[in-house]
Amino acid sequence: MMVKIGRARAHTNIALIKYWGKRDERLVLPMNSSLSLTLDSLYTETEVVFNRDVDMDYFYLDGKIQDVESTNRVSRFLDLFRNAADMGEFAIVKSKNYVPTGAGLASSASGFAALAAAANIASGLNLDDRELSIYARQGSGSATRSIYGGFVEWRKGIDCWDSYAVAIDDGKWDIGMVIVIVNPREKRISSREGMKRTLHTSPFYGSWVESAKEDLRNIKIAIEERDIESIGRIAESNSFKMHATMLGANPPLLYWEPETIEVMEIVHELREQGLPCYFTMDAGPNVKILCRLSDAERIRSSLEQVFKPEQIIVAGSGPGIAIL
Ligand code: DP6
Repeated sequence: MMVKIGRARAHTNIALIKYWGKRDERLVLPMNSSLSLTLDSLYTETEVVFNRDVDMDYFYLDGKIQDVESTNRVSRFLDLFRNAADMGEFAIVKSKNYVPTGAGLASSASGFAALAAAANIASGLNLDDRELSIYARQGSGSATRSIYGGFVEWRKGIDCWDSYAVAIDDGKWDIGMVIVIVNPREKRISSREGMKRTLHTSPFYGSWVESAKEDLRNIKIAIEERDIESIGRIAESNSFKMHATMLGANPPLLYWEPETIEVMEIVHELREQGLPCYFTMDAGPNVKILCRLSDAERIRSSLEQVFKPEQIIVAGSGPGIAIL
């Protein structure tokens, strides 16, 4: 029995300057460059085994065999590696998400980054990190950034081989996030569908792209200066602008829930007390609060007056992919 095996870990990331819209859906080329922070406490571990004796691809997530749709997405992704390595074997893929169960945080970012890194070993392709981010991108846009740790920029580039992530700051300083799980249910409309609808129907879309460009320029300066107030203000504003653009879509996209706004109010109060903390939201109701890691426990205790302890996750800046 000839088997080729690879195992890897990748951490999830939260965008501070959001990716929202593709100019090429097949190649996953974004309309704008984006920037994120990789987190330490949320990650995925994946094993890929290419085996000549297997009759099709099998995909297990947290021990459960997955349906045709998600298996096909994994198969199409593995085809990139099979084609490049000129191999025909099917694979057994086993993934485990290390996120609090039922938190609604299982992410395609860590998922496809870990799958890319494991398939890279199993196929013997030996891609470097930049190439890996190009491959991961074709699984899911946000996965492009999860190849690296700390603050990461995904440069939109001009074509398939020119759109990849770059590590811009290792994040090894007093920075972190407090995540509030407002609602653990699956999102109603996936990022993939939501961004497509926004791009095609929101009259604000052009302004979103223009303003994301400026936000990116400014946040990079703020990161270099480790100026948490500026980083936070820019990130919070960028997230609001993305959600405003979504509200302009037809039909409109509203991902917030009443508790989302409750978290915003708590953050505002803490800020008035002089504590630098800022929020960002993605395609769902959960809120991620950017702060100094050394302030995270204070923020947690304020949140615990309204939310249950299991709804709150503290994360520091995390590392890039690891081979296991
Ligand atoms: C709001 O990376 O999940 O989290 O490329 O279609 O797989 P696909 O989308 P995905 O979108 C992430 C959108 C976001 C912002 C971000 O992470 O930049």
